[in-house]
Amino acid sequence: MRIKILRRRDPESEPYWEAFDYDGPAESSVAGVLDWLNYHDDVVTADGRKTTRIGWECSCLQGMCGACAMVINGVPSLACETFVKDLGGPEITVEPLKKFPVVRDLITDRSSIQENLKRTDVYIGEYRPRSGEDHEHQYTAAKCLKCGLCLEVCPNYTSGKSFFGAAFANDCYLVAARNREKAGQIKAAYNEHFGKTCSKSLSCMDVCPMKIPTIASMAKLNKLK
Ligand code: FES
Repeated sequence: MRIKILRRRDPESEPYWEAFDYDGPAESSVAGVLDWLNYHDDVVTADGRKTTRIGWECSCLQGMCGACAMVINGVPSLACETFVKDLGGPEITVEPLKKFPVVRDLITDRSSIQENLKRTDVYIGEYRPRSGEDHEHQYTAAKCLKCGLCLEVCPNYTSGKSFFGAAFANDCYLVAARNREKAGQIKAAYNEHFGKTCSKSLSCMDVCPMKIPTIASMAKLNKLK
């Protein structure tokens, strides 16, 4: 099987494609393939050239941290949850997320997700929950990995602009539900950085690895007084 990877040495350099041959198990995840390619003493391209190890990030390898988010065969995906046997075809393409600055190869800088939350004071602080709030949905919204896949597919999200996307919207609901004294401030931030711009394509929900129904967070937040 051929794996084509869009590589970049550093943020300033031009991206370039490099192809590799993989003859490991088809049961492997794409994360396993990247590991397999890097494991050899010499990393060699499909046309026999020695090259550098492929830069990519992972932590949990079980779909729980979001570190391995990248674009696989054109689809924003977690590499550790995407399996070679499910991709079909003789070739797999792997690219970094396009909506975030590339650090190296498949590693992107997604710190803007956290920075946007800090900048708008969207954090719980003192726990002052509302009575009767939906704890089940709070638990679901709290599963957000901040992996950035929802932002990668969002037609409204551009890095560095004032629309912060679904990861922000879910945290706004969570914080407003858990600290009633901050709800007014959080709703204002939500409207400014999400509500007034979201065009409801809801493609964010299609790619979310934790299957968070952002539309429910939006509806619940809108109902909070
Ligand atoms: S390594 Fe944690 S989600 Fe893939």
